[in-house]
Amino acid sequence: MMKQVIIEREKIYRGNLLLVNASYPLKNTEKERKKGLVPACVYFPAILLKRDAANILQMVLEKISPGSLIVPVSGYRTQKEQEDIYNGSLRDNGEEFTKKYVALPRHSEHQTGLAIDLGLYKEKIDFIRPDFPYTGICNKFRKAASAYGFIERYQKDKEDITGISHEPWHFRYVGYPHSRIITDNNFSLEEYIEFIKNYTKNNKLMYKDKSGTITQIYYVPAEDQTVINLPDRCTSQVSGNNTDGFIVTVWGKI
Ligand code: DAL
Ligand code: ZN
Repeated sequence: MMKQVIIEREKIYRGNLLLVNASYPLKNTEKERKKGLVPACVYFPAILLKRDAANILQMVLEKISPGSLIVPVSGYRTQKEQEDIYNGSLRDNGEEFTKKYVALPRHSEHQTGLAIDLGLYKEKIDFIRPDFPYTGICNKFRKAASAYGFIERYQKDKEDITGISHEPWHFRYVGYPHSRIITDNNFSLEEYIEFIKNYTKNNKLMYKDKSGTITQIYYVPAEDQTVINLPDRCTSQVSGNNTDGFIVTVWGKI
C-alpha cells in the first residue's frame, strides 16, 4: 500500500540533505533553523546540533570511545554569530584566508544545525581551523562517522566545487546511507546532489549495504504542490535539497 503526501515548494529549504554553499544560501527563517536544537554532547551544553545529528554523533562517539581526546569546537551558529566570525576573521586573518575557511553569513552549514567542527584535544584549540588529523582517534572518528550518517564536507581536491578549502575538522550530518555513498564514491555534497538527480520515481537508486539492507533513494523536482507516493509500511524521509527539489529515502523492505 502507498500513501500520498503533498509537499509545498518552500519545503525544499528543509531537511538533512540541504545543499548550502556560496551559490545556495539558507532560505528558511532563523526561528525555523532553531527548532529541535539540542546539545551536541552533554559535556559541552552550549554547542548545539539538530536532534538527529546530535543523536548520531553520540552513537559515533560511543562506538570509538575517544574519552576527552575529541572536543566539539563549533556547532549551530546564528546569523549574528556567523557574521561576527566572518568579520572577526577578516580583521584578524585577512580576506584571502577568510574566503577559504569561513562561509559568508547565510551561506554556512553551521547555520543549519547539521554541521560540527571537532578538534583533537589541546590546551589551545584554533577555533576556525582546529587540528583533526588523519591518524589515531580522529581518523577512527572519521571512518565511523560515514557509517552512521556524517561526512567530511570539505575534502581535499574539491575546493573548486565546494568553494571552501580542505577542512578535515568539519563534519556534516546527511544521514545514513547517504553518508556511506558519498564517502565511498568520494563525492562532494555538491556532486552527490547532482548524482541523485539521475534517479527518479521510475528509476530509483537501490542501495544495498554490507548487511544486505536495501535503501531506495530518488529525486523529485519541486512543483508548487509536489505529490510523492510513499510505501505505507516502510520508514521514509523526504528532504529538500535547498535548490530545486526533494530527495526521498525509503528504508527497509518494499
Ligand atoms: N568553515 C565553514 C566553511 C563555515 O564557516 O561554515
Ligand atoms: Zn565547520
